[in-house]
Amino acid sequence: MISTYDYPSAKLAQAAGIDMILVGDSLGMVALGYNSTIDVTIDDMIHHGKAVRRGAKDTFMAVDMPFMTYHSSVEDTVKQGAYLFQKTQANALKLEGFNPIIEQAIKHMTAGGIPIIGHLGLTPQHINVLSGYKLQAKTKESIQDIIQNAKRLEQAGIACLVLECIPKEVGNFITNQLTIPTISIGAGPDCDGQVLVYHDILQYGQASFPKFVKNYVNLDHVIEEGLTQYIKEVKASHFPNNDQSYHIEDTSFLPDC
Ligand code: KIV
Repeated sequence: MISTYDYPSAKLAQAAGIDMILVGDSLGMVALGYNSTIDVTIDDMIHHGKAVRRGAKDTFMAVDMPFMTYHSSVEDTVKQGAYLFQKTQANALKLEGFNPIIEQAIKHMTAGGIPIIGHLGLTPQHINVLSGYKLQAKTKESIQDIIQNAKRLEQAGIACLVLECIPKEVGNFITNQLTIPTISIGAGPDCDGQVLVYHDILQYGQASFPKFVKNYVNLDHVIEEGLTQYIKEVKASHFPNNDQSYHIEDTSFLPDC
């Protein structure tokens, strides 16, 4: 799975043969320049979800429910979820964490035909209560919590579970405890699938990367090189050349000045 947010990246991800695309709310930081995912709205998710859908019509696409759109009540969560699902033509929605409202909302949405993906471990929408982007599930208590929440999410009906930034041993344990697939982002190699952000994989416009990221190419270098060359050629009047210009045969059509 790959997190991506626009038409060309979705098109390329589909062409490369990716199994699933996530329109993650990481778009807030990666594509919109915010400090966290907290500023991302449901309208942002719809705008980007629709672009991704247009680029990857034949790929399973999940969309993140953004900050505080699934916490005030079960009824409101189902309403917001249905709206996001319909507007983006998603195949599933993803939400972070676990609590009684989320549990009931998952049951209602799944029963109504919306597959839900869970997300435990480092849940970026809770960054201010987690005190930063840090490894989770390090203590006995927090490990017991995440295992219990994973099981409760499965019982509530989630289709699969994203596990973010936890020790690989915990990723392995949870994967063996559940019957649904787990998808790791910094949860080790034993999960059933892996997810990374498009811009991280391709080293595209990001200042730094978490330990769990692998850069497969360096698009920053390629883009910088291309742009520098373009600026240089325009300033030196080497671009556009004759081949890159349109012509009229008869210049007498031009008025005398
Ligand atoms: O927002 C996102 O892109 C995500 C993935 C990194 C799992 O939640």
